[in-house]
Amino acid sequence: MNKEITSSELRQKYLDFFKERGHAVIPSASIIPNNDPTVLFTTAGMHPLVPYLMGQKHPEGTRLTDVQKCIRTGDIDEVGDASHLTFFEMLGNWSLGDYFKKEAIAWSYEFLTSPKYLGLDPDKLAFTVFEGDSDAPRDEESAELWKAQGVKEDHIFYLPKKHNWWGPAGQTGPCGPDTEMFIITDKEPCGEDCSPACSCGRYLEIWNDVFMQYHKNADGTFEPLKQRNVDTGMGLERTLCVLTGKDNVYETEIFSEQLAKISELCGKKYGESEQVTRAFRIIADHLRTATFILGDDLGVSPSNVDQGYVLRRLIRRAVRFGRKLNMPENFTPAIAQVVIDKYKSVYPELERNKDFVLEQLRLEEERFAKTLEQGTKEFEKLVDKLKISGTLSGRLAFRLYDTFGFPIEMTQELAKENG
Ligand code: ALA
Repeated sequence: MNKEITSSELRQKYLDFFKERGHAVIPSASIIPNNDPTVLFTTAGMHPLVPYLMGQKHPEGTRLTDVQKCIRTGDIDEVGDASHLTFFEMLGNWSLGDYFKKEAIAWSYEFLTSPKYLGLDPDKLAFTVFEGDSDAPRDEESAELWKAQGVKEDHIFYLPKKHNWWGPAGQTGPCGPDTEMFIITDKEPCGEDCSPACSCGRYLEIWNDVFMQYHKNADGTFEPLKQRNVDTGMGLERTLCVLTGKDNVYETEIFSEQLAKISELCGKKYGESEQVTRAFRIIADHLRTATFILGDDLGVSPSNVDQGYVLRRLIRRAVRFGRKLNMPENFTPAIAQVVIDKYKSVYPELERNKDFVLEQLRLEEERFAKTLEQGTKEFEKLVDKLKISGTLSGRLAFRLYDTFGFPIEMTQELAKENG
């Protein structure tokens, strides 16, 4: 463990390490992909690099490293627990047909264990490799390369595609077997078969080296790529959490200014109750993501389609939880300002697009307040009848949503409050 490390130090150490090993440091690409119509947001560091993994020449060469802004909203309703985030930063290094398993594994091991970098205890690390199937062979080569670094046999686990295969980022594209790195915590094994494959919490993943040598086609088949690539990904928030020994990502320094601002605005304390904690986390997560979407140079406005719809959903969900905390009106720009200050040195576009970010948040918060007011009025018109029948029909819930934009969660809440 490295209790003191900060997010800036982790970012810098990573980029410096790979720069010293011949990698060009490239800026994060846009959070909105320009080469993949199958997804709304950039979901991984490799995503903007797909054309180069497929063989196109990259202007900066064949060794690259960066920290990429990523969004994954598939689990948006899980946000509020200890680990789910809709936005995260991914540290990565790439070989575009340059080095392969040998160098990738040696460097990963060095970065994790060298006292000059993360200085982790090798006995507290575990590694997984692909066990093989009809699409690709068992990855003995990676296992041997870990052992050559001094990793003990019983710290290496062979797992199937479900665990040790990564990609493609969209529905088709480059992918391949991977080898993943885990920190072994002090938690006792959950059983005889306890391994990095289980979610008991004993093994926490921090890094993934993907050996991208296949292309997944639309019909589900795999074919070898023209060049063999390396794609690696280390989630900054999660890794910082594990390294500093925190229970959850929200307790890392990454969120401290945001949580303090929320507390200042609503007068409640993070941690004072489960409900309050959850609301703080949802507001912090969603407004950080919204700030990055609005603050991107390809930034979009809230709307009813595509990225704009996701953005609207994030802002409105944050506002809904803000109401539970009695946040003052127009709180979303105040939180966004904290996010911009925290990240502007790494992502200067946030400062460049600041006026747009703050204005769009203010407007969306206002629009949502009107929607809520109208929807509540409509609900109240009906409430006596509903009390008599004791149920609220799907048809009515849909009308409130469809005609008045009233969120289903609000309808559920009001229904519950009114028995
Ligand atoms: N692309 C790989 C991931 O996202 C490295 O985990």
